Amino acid sequence: MAKKRYVQVGVGGRARFFYEALAEKYADTSVLTGFCDLNRTRMEYAVKNLKEKFGYEGITLYGAEEFEKMIEEQKPDYVIVTSIDRTHHKYIIKAMEMGCDVISEKPMTMNDEKCQAILDAVKRTGRNLRVSFNYRYAPYNSKVRELIMNNVIGDVKQVHFEWMLNTVHGADYFRRWHRDKRNSGGLLVHKATHHFDLVNFWLGTKPKEVFSFGDLMFYGRENAENRGITKFYYRTHGSENAKGDPFAFDMEGSQSLEGLYLNAEKEDGYLRDQSVFGDGISIEDVMNVLVKYESGAIMSYSLNAFSPVEGFRVAFTGTTGRLELTVSERVYVNAGGSKDIEGAAKKSLITVTPMFGEPYVVETEKAEGGHGGGDPILLEDIFGNPPADPLKRAASHEDGALSILTGVAANKAIATGLPVKIKDLVTF
Ligand SMILES: NC(=O)c1ccc[n+]([C@@H]2O[C@H](COP(=O)([O-])OP(=O)(O)OC[C@H]3O[C@@H](n4cnc5c(N)ncnc54)[C@H](O)[C@@H]3O)[C@@H](O)[C@H]2O)c1
Repeated sequence: MAKKRYVQVGVGGRARFFYEALAEKYADTSVLTGFCDLNRTRMEYAVKNLKEKFGYEGITLYGAEEFEKMIEEQKPDYVIVTSIDRTHHKYIIKAMEMGCDVISEKPMTMNDEKCQAILDAVKRTGRNLRVSFNYRYAPYNSKVRELIMNNVIGDVKQVHFEWMLNTVHGADYFRRWHRDKRNSGGLLVHKATHHFDLVNFWLGTKPKEVFSFGDLMFYGRENAENRGITKFYYRTHGSENAKGDPFAFDMEGSQSLEGLYLNAEKEDGYLRDQSVFGDGISIEDVMNVLVKYESGAIMSYSLNAFSPVEGFRVAFTGTTGRLELTVSERVYVNAGGSKDIEGAAKKSLITVTPMFGEPYVVETEKAEGGHGGGDPILLEDIFGNPPADPLKRAASHEDGALSILTGVAANKAIATGLPVKIKDLVTF
């Protein structure tokens, strides 16, 4: 059988998750032949890595302006999109128009206009678009879906969901492109797309109406000044003031951080280590959201990006019982270490309390790998030959859209002080 042909656009920290899998585990059935990025140094770093680690060769490099040329020359079946969020729609749409299927990193895109353009392009071209929601595949998250699907707590009426990003992982979104809302949609889109997708998946429903408050309360120059901080710096590299600051981010000595960012910045000015207490941050670090779902359930959700704790807690109250999931995660920063520990679970606990019954613990299998062990299972689902999945975890473009729309609506609610209906954002 002919191998499936892949190319990839956006070859930074996350890209490795896909290209290493194609070069190693799935090399018998797949071939990766092209990289496209603004930054040649980063692409060359990836190529060197692939050669040294797996002896993999034969990838042609293209600049961002040569995306179409890459598709014409490489004739891929699939385009993998791992560029920065605000560019996803451009590559997804062009790839589908040129006859390819697409695997996109989350968030599928970052606002309602770009989302509508993607939905229209899927309809127009008939191509397939998958969004790689790895958290669905973490065994404890899959187990929650199974329990709710099997009616273990009856009809879920209320969800209380708290996600905590700590001062290592959470801080990292305030150092680089994510900190500009125009790039990422803020954490309500960039990060919470995972969380809102999980709720849609767990409950088997869709968001209907959203309200939210959120603000920048800890990071940023003014907040730091108000706490009495007087020593500031623009970036860690080469700064005296950064020395001894626990929020500083030192790339020197890390092969991957130097290779991907420090040595590459001369080309495009992408500084990976800006101070989290700098000016110009337009995303929130504290967010509270209320969501009403089509099933009738309501949710209160919070996200904090300067917590001492890393992990999440979610509780579902149904008509016949309550289910609680608590997870603590290992701390990780993008490209700062093995990709296998990104969001890897340290501890997880599922408890069910039947109405009028005693609480009991539901065991889940332990899975190694990033995102609670979801990463390797997702890869098998995308590149391998997986068995039929009763939980239907593979996420479509509609799942990608619905998961961002809660965050997009929450952003609008923060801006206007008014609740937002999902049906007013896009037409499916
Ligand atoms: N599913 C997950 O768990 C997960 C984890 C991390 C990142 N991600 C996603 O992966 C994507 C990349 O994140 P990252 O952390 O690797 O960021 P990164 O900054 O390390 O890499 C982004 C890459 O995009 C390139 N780029 C920027 N503008 C471009 C353009 N116009 N055309 C082509 N390339 C361009 C940059 O040069 C860089 O190489 C994001 O969408 C992010 O949300 C997902």
